[in-house]
Amino acid sequence: MTSMYYTPTRVIFGKGAEEKAADEIKRIGAKKVLIHFGGKSAEKSGLLNKVRSNLKENGIEYAELGGVKPNPRIELAREGIRLCEKEGVDLILAVGGGSVIDSAKAIGYGLYNKGEVWDFYSGKRTPQGSVPVGVILTLSATGSEMSDSSVLTNETEGGLKRGCNSDYCRPSFALLNPELTYTVPRYQTEVGTVDIMMHTIERFFHSGEGIDFTDRMACTLIKDTMEKGFIALDDPENYDARASLMWASSLSHNGLMALGNDQRGDWACHQLEHELSGMFDIAHGAGLAIIFPAWATYVHKENPDRFAKLGSLVFGIKEKGEEGALKTIEAFKECFRKFEMPLSMKEAGIDLKDSELEELLDKATFFGKRTLGAFRKLEREDMKAIYLLAR
Ligand code: NZQ
Ligand code: ZN
Repeated sequence: MTSMYYTPTRVIFGKGAEEKAADEIKRIGAKKVLIHFGGKSAEKSGLLNKVRSNLKENGIEYAELGGVKPNPRIELAREGIRLCEKEGVDLILAVGGGSVIDSAKAIGYGLYNKGEVWDFYSGKRTPQGSVPVGVILTLSATGSEMSDSSVLTNETEGGLKRGCNSDYCRPSFALLNPELTYTVPRYQTEVGTVDIMMHTIERFFHSGEGIDFTDRMACTLIKDTMEKGFIALDDPENYDARASLMWASSLSHNGLMALGNDQRGDWACHQLEHELSGMFDIAHGAGLAIIFPAWATYVHKENPDRFAKLGSLVFGIKEKGEEGALKTIEAFKECFRKFEMPLSMKEAGIDLKDSELEELLDKATFFGKRTLGAFRKLEREDMKAIYLLAR
């Protein structure tokens, strides 16, 4: 059994990191950049103007495309590809959170590989490369700033949300200034914190060999993220809390937390969640808080001691076996509650009808073509039981 750790992203961390954008672009040798961003937040904070000035002062030409929505849509990425082709763009600079970065990654794929970009998300084709993507991160959550993943939603296919994973989309550079996250609203801080925790929790649940060092590193990340999340809620401009969350966001999803583990982790919660946020447009972290307790309740008997180990290292739970597992699940529910998360679809305002449940299951199983999970393999009936527990 081998596992791989590959992180080509050059990280520049700390106050003022965004001022290194031009240096990084020159290092790569790009001639024209697309500045890609979301709604109003980066304009309002003055960050976009800083970026524009930084590029202008260094003689770097750029085009711009804003308007990325949370749960980014493939349609805007297509618009970005057309614009970049017209403008001769050879690097995409994402200024924002996970949605902006993922949209930038889709543009990077579409520019490098001709043809319909959704093919890479629907699984029809595999990308053979990408135009480089650089990141100025404004929200600690998804880890997309170092990850091999990009998740897009296709509205014309009924809100089908699909990920494309390949090392080609790992950003060339990530500029991480924790101060840029001081303005992140309370709710986004909460869902972001849950997402960071979940990227490591999902990696913790494999069914084969693992190494204790990785388990301990993982649990430190989960515990610290939980604690720093609470501090950031009380004191949004606490540098250490925001900085810890930012670095944890990157390390939680760049592969480090699965090194030595038999598989890349379980990922059923993420996959079940993507169908939920694709169909109902809820925040990804909120969807995870709904799915994880239901999944854990359903699968914990597979290996209760694995849950107990997580509970012991994160919450100091002493009990082993079934009792330890149940206490661990309760402790996570309690934690998500404190982060003001919904713990059921109903609490998130989703009144799931039976026909919608079947639609979720069609999508989650890739229309009957896949099972989910590694800690416990889930068939359609298992997924149904989990969605029902989460309803
Ligand atoms: O659009 P603007 O105005 O910028 O506002 C955004 C947006 O409304 C706001 N925001 C971002 N930075 C801010 C800020 N507001 C104030 N101050 C700042 N500094 O936050 C809102 C949410 O942004 P978004 O990018 O959607 O959030 P997040 O980073 O949580 O990204 C979520 C998306 O990433 C996907 C999710 O499924 C979801 O689509 N994921 C991507 C992954 C990956 N590529 O590796 C892994 C994850 O598991 C996840 O699936
Ligand atoms: Zn996630």
